[in-house]
Amino acid sequence: MGLLHALPLVLFAKCVLSSTVVPHESISNAPSGFRASGSPPPTQEIKLFIALVQSNITGLAKVVDAVSSPSSPSYGQYLTAAEVAQYVKPAAASVSTVMDWVTPNVASVKPFSPAGDILQVSLTVEQAEGLFNTKFSTYTRSADGQEMIRALNYSLPSTVQQHILHVHPIIAFTPPPQRTSKNTVYKRKAIPDRRQLAPCEDIVRPVCIQEFYGIPNTTISGSLTNSIGVQGYNSPGLGEYANNDDLATFLNEFRPDIAGNTFSVTLLNGAQNLQDNSGGLEGQIDIQYTVGVAGDVPTTYLLDGSNTDAATSYMDTINWLLTQEDPPTVFTTSYGNLETDLTQSAATSVCNGYMQLAAIGISMIFASGDGGAANNQQSQCTSFVPMFPPTCPYVTSVGGTFFQPPTAFSSSSGGFSNYFPVPTYQATDTSAYLESIGDENSGFYNPNGRGFPDVASEWEIFIVNAGGVTSVGGTSCASPIFASFIALVNDRLIVAGKPVLGFLNPLLYSTGKGGLDDVTVGESSGCGATSGWPATTGWDPVTGLGTPDFPGMIKALGI
Ligand SMILES: *[C@@H]1O[C@H](CO)[C@@H](O)[C@H](O)[C@H]1NC(C)=O
Ligand SMILES: *[C@@H]1O[C@H](CO)[C@@H](O)[C@H](O)[C@H]1NC(C)=O
Ligand SMILES: *[C@@H]1O[C@H](CO)[C@@H](O)[C@H](O)[C@H]1NC(C)=O
Repeated sequence: MGLLHALPLVLFAKCVLSSTVVPHESISNAPSGFRASGSPPPTQEIKLFIALVQSNITGLAKVVDAVSSPSSPSYGQYLTAAEVAQYVKPAAASVSTVMDWVTPNVASVKPFSPAGDILQVSLTVEQAEGLFNTKFSTYTRSADGQEMIRALNYSLPSTVQQHILHVHPIIAFTPPPQRTSKNTVYKRKAIPDRRQLAPCEDIVRPVCIQEFYGIPNTTISGSLTNSIGVQGYNSPGLGEYANNDDLATFLNEFRPDIAGNTFSVTLLNGAQNLQDNSGGLEGQIDIQYTVGVAGDVPTTYLLDGSNTDAATSYMDTINWLLTQEDPPTVFTTSYGNLETDLTQSAATSVCNGYMQLAAIGISMIFASGDGGAANNQQSQCTSFVPMFPPTCPYVTSVGGTFFQPPTAFSSSSGGFSNYFPVPTYQATDTSAYLESIGDENSGFYNPNGRGFPDVASEWEIFIVNAGGVTSVGGTSCASPIFASFIALVNDRLIVAGKPVLGFLNPLLYSTGKGGLDDVTVGESSGCGATSGWPATTGWDPVTGLGTPDFPGMIKALGI
């Protein structure tokens, strides 16, 4: 009896083993800072994401160009999320082939993305080693002792491989999203007399931003669907939330005309909206400079409690936005990672997610980072280090500047992607810049990569934290300010009966240049003997195309 039952199983196993297995992805070593510390228990359960081939991603890219380019006849004619799903949902044959292969070998499998192009599987280490023909190890990150179960390579059956883009995170040692802000704290726990605050040439408050960028106090459309989303991360290492009392104090002090305005909170993955004083400054900055600058635009704080790798965290937000009935029209994120923190395949998957958000008309805005051209990688000064998501061609990234005189913030991150080629909308501008600097920094960057940041704004501001006025700095201050500018432009478009701006870059690099003030002074820091990037006339990888000019943008849009 037992023997009879066992026989077909053995034959089946042999049959699977003899089908051709093809190497799919590999790295030669774990990244520096990790060491292999043993083998994980074979019965330990792990979670993996299988990205399937999307049915028409090149078609979706064309649609995004068409709906985002001011010269196109379909400018502003955004798709619904359901229409977008048709472009990314995998072919029926991909789904059935992959499901037939994984289902008998995993504890559970379910769609992770709304279109089903990414599957989430739970399985034991032993099952994963069989499916992916690899050997897992436990790796420990020396910086914080964090353990990850990873392998250096994996293979797929030849019959399955053509349906799969990649499996994550087998070979990806990606940390969670990181705060970009330096958050230099100058003063704490004291509300100074208003007259003692430095005037606008140094550290600024909302009235300075309104004055210098010509940003109006409040909305005039009264639209409640024109909203700003703000990303927060609340994982153990990043105990962020925005304090309601501090926002109230901030508005009383700096925006008495909108005192009493608040924001809504959405909690993902077990995030906690603690209202004590244990949080970091990021949530305070991001909420105070959206609620406090985009007067009356409804603001939603999306607080994610997961402590997983950044690629999965970014996808969580993309999936959330794709499933909202009325998603925010503008979304700001002051977190980021080194581009090399993500594998190229995972970064591409996430970036294709931002392409989907572009198609439905959301402006995704990211701080460019605070590490200068080399992102503080001083010890290995052989090449500059770009930041992701800013290098994704479907997001808008924001560098830092001072107001008076308009000068680049030297820690503003910027440069050129090693993963994403230069997109058409900026190719003329990036090549003009590279021509202007000649062979400066050559060998330190990819001259054919997507250039970032796209734009810039003020980087050093006053916030209220723990009841007192505090001065903070970084591109994480610049991103919410730029997002507020766009939300108020959207308000004026709504009044004029026009669609909101959606994915900004094709506009910003063409007719929208009139809505930005070029910053031509200053430079970013480099590493070793290199001097980073100089700001120049036109686009540069420190301040992008420049800072907000609200009246100029209204004029450029013809409203
Ligand atoms: C892919 O999308 C483009 C743009 O909408 C469309 O023209 C093309 O026919 C689509 N291709 C397929 C195979 O569906
Ligand atoms: C896969 O990684 C293992 C170490 O885990 C190594 O021994 C093996 O040579 C690698 N195979 C390939 C094809 O890279
Ligand atoms: C606009 O906001 C500033 C504060 O930033 C305030 O001083 C001014 O009174 C407001 N204007 C109106 C018309 O409410």
